[in-house]
Amino acid sequence: MNYQEAYAKLEKSGQTHVLKYFEELSEAEKQDLLSQIELTDFTVLEACKHKEENNRGEFAPLKCMELDEIKAGAAAFEAKGLEAIRAGKVGAVLLAGGMGTRLGSDDPKGMYNIGLTKEVYIFQRIIENLLDVVNKADAWIHLFVMTSDKNHDKTTKFLKEHAYFGYKEEYVHFFKQSMAPAADYNGNVYMESKHTISSSPNGNGGWYISMVDSGMTDVVKANGIEWLNCFAVDNVLQRIADPVFVGACIDRDAAVGAKVVRKNAPDEKVGVMCLEDGKPSIVEYYELTQEMMDAKDEKGNPAYNFGVILNYLLRVTDLDKIVSQKLPLHVVEKKIPYMDETGVFHKPEEPNGYKFESLILDMIHMMPSCLPFEVERNYEFAPIKNKTGIDSVESARALCKENGIEL
Ligand code: UTP
Repeated sequence: MNYQEAYAKLEKSGQTHVLKYFEELSEAEKQDLLSQIELTDFTVLEACKHKEENNRGEFAPLKCMELDEIKAGAAAFEAKGLEAIRAGKVGAVLLAGGMGTRLGSDDPKGMYNIGLTKEVYIFQRIIENLLDVVNKADAWIHLFVMTSDKNHDKTTKFLKEHAYFGYKEEYVHFFKQSMAPAADYNGNVYMESKHTISSSPNGNGGWYISMVDSGMTDVVKANGIEWLNCFAVDNVLQRIADPVFVGACIDRDAAVGAKVVRKNAPDEKVGVMCLEDGKPSIVEYYELTQEMMDAKDEKGNPAYNFGVILNYLLRVTDLDKIVSQKLPLHVVEKKIPYMDETGVFHKPEEPNGYKFESLILDMIHMMPSCLPFEVERNYEFAPIKNKTGIDSVESARALCKENGIEL
């Protein structure tokens, strides 16, 4: 793309300030900036204008497979799950493209060391958990790791240097997600430097299309993988490719299974599994009306009682059916490092603008059926979002200790 073409593209979305310092740049920097302009989708900025729109449908409860039912069927589910794993039909997808801004480390979140007396990295905890299943099934499971432009090199280098924490290298596959521009509250793209557009990973919703674009789905197809267990990097107790969960989803012929935890309180800040216009969906805690919080199921328990923990098992044939559908774009307030009009760089302490993300929960709503599958919170859910307080390094360490994990 040349200067004129870049200018014309930027003009369409009112972003010509991106070229403000063009004449000052070196030849290499000029080329770099032009290529960023070519690759950036500025149309996402339109979403700032529709930020407040709420197009949600009609919510209804969705029955969950609860612990007692799982316990009763566990042996049969596990046998079915192990059979699928041994046949190579299950793959795992680690979503590790996020910026982990709340944790405040410059490194990828998975590189965070939660150990106290020795090194225990988040990536290590996750891989150790997956290795439990590999050892039980006596079969390797393909692990796909999604990174972004911002953390790819550090992630791949770190895992290689640590010999994948005992995982077999041929079974680890990396792919990058796409980026989206970041903007101020008026929808003007921020610049990180005179030749760098401020951009961030475009959310965890684009993982499957990124797998397709990067050729990862060829690996999926070539290996006969029929189910993908997609999970977040930050839960250090995350059970991955859990044979009981896999078996239950196959048994119930669900297009997607979602691991869920019983809520601590009716107004707890978690997204809750439900139906929306008859299709699986996740209602955000702030969307729950009093009436929904008071609603009861046939056992007299709260009808909207199970929160998602970002651990989904998705059937590949169903993913292929929805891959061309556009996911809604979420406008999220974040802290965005930027260069001001005088050329000075800032790293803000408070949110100062918007990032644009698509979310995996919107993908769940595109699926024809879903099995919410209850797990015991204290055994399987120790998310690290913050340094201290709720969902933090501190709370996750306490939960690791409770589960006998040495730190
Ligand atoms: P979060 O919503 O916690 O976002 O991601 P984050 O970027 O990691 O952290 P904050 O909000 O900046 O503090 C949930 C999961 O989705 C992944 C994350 O890596 C994490 O596993 N994710 C998020 C992506 O893979 N890509 C993204 O663009 C965003």
